Amino acid sequence: MKSIVVLISGRGSNMTAIAQALRDERWPARIACVVADRPGAAGLARAREHGVDTDVVDFRAFDSRAGFEAALAGAIDRHAPDLVVLAGFMRILGDAFVDRYARRMLNIHPSLLPAFPGLHTHRRALEAGVAVHGATVHLVGRELDMGPIVAQAALAVRADDDEDRLAARVLALEHRLYPAAVRWFVEDRLALHGGRVELREPRPGETRCLWEG
Ligand code: GAR
Repeated sequence: MKSIVVLISGRGSNMTAIAQALRDERWPARIACVVADRPGAAGLARAREHGVDTDVVDFRAFDSRAGFEAALAGAIDRHAPDLVVLAGFMRILGDAFVDRYARRMLNIHPSLLPAFPGLHTHRRALEAGVAVHGATVHLVGRELDMGPIVAQAALAVRADDDEDRLAARVLALEHRLYPAAVRWFVEDRLALHGGRVELREPRPGETRCLWEG
């Protein structure tokens, strides 16, 4: 049974999608704790609705990133997790923290990386006039929103897409993509070769590339 700690900053819809899939599909895993970096994160209540323990390490209580990250690492390590899942966790992480969870920390980012790391990805994608957009799950590396790509979900941008419509369609894809990627991790089916991820023994229909529709 693998143990997972999920870090959130906001509504936690990806965390909820993972918690639901884990329960419905009976993964060999449990979410030991959902940790937020702010007490007002709406996802905390959603985690409790799923019977998951919660914790808060309020970033505003620390005057340095190192102090915050040391406290956060303490809150995580208490559960000795096999995997740390960043699900809308909106803090930039220092090298020591990233290295501590090397090869066992996943993130989801709302763009087809390496395009559009950082914020406002949907607006920037529309401004750039891309025809294809989406989301990426990756192992967390030292560079912001970078690291070996586990899986991507893609959609064709429509002529009438605005930022909100695009965000909603990408988020619906995220809710399919992230549970699948976390499941592969807990089933030990992700292999890293020279910075590239391979999905071992893919089952029928399983692919690292998910398309809308
Ligand atoms: C998601 O769209 C996720 O991809 C994004 O924050 C949102 C969180 O939503 N993450 C990032 O931008 C990380 N760079 P949620 O709290 O409902 O899961």
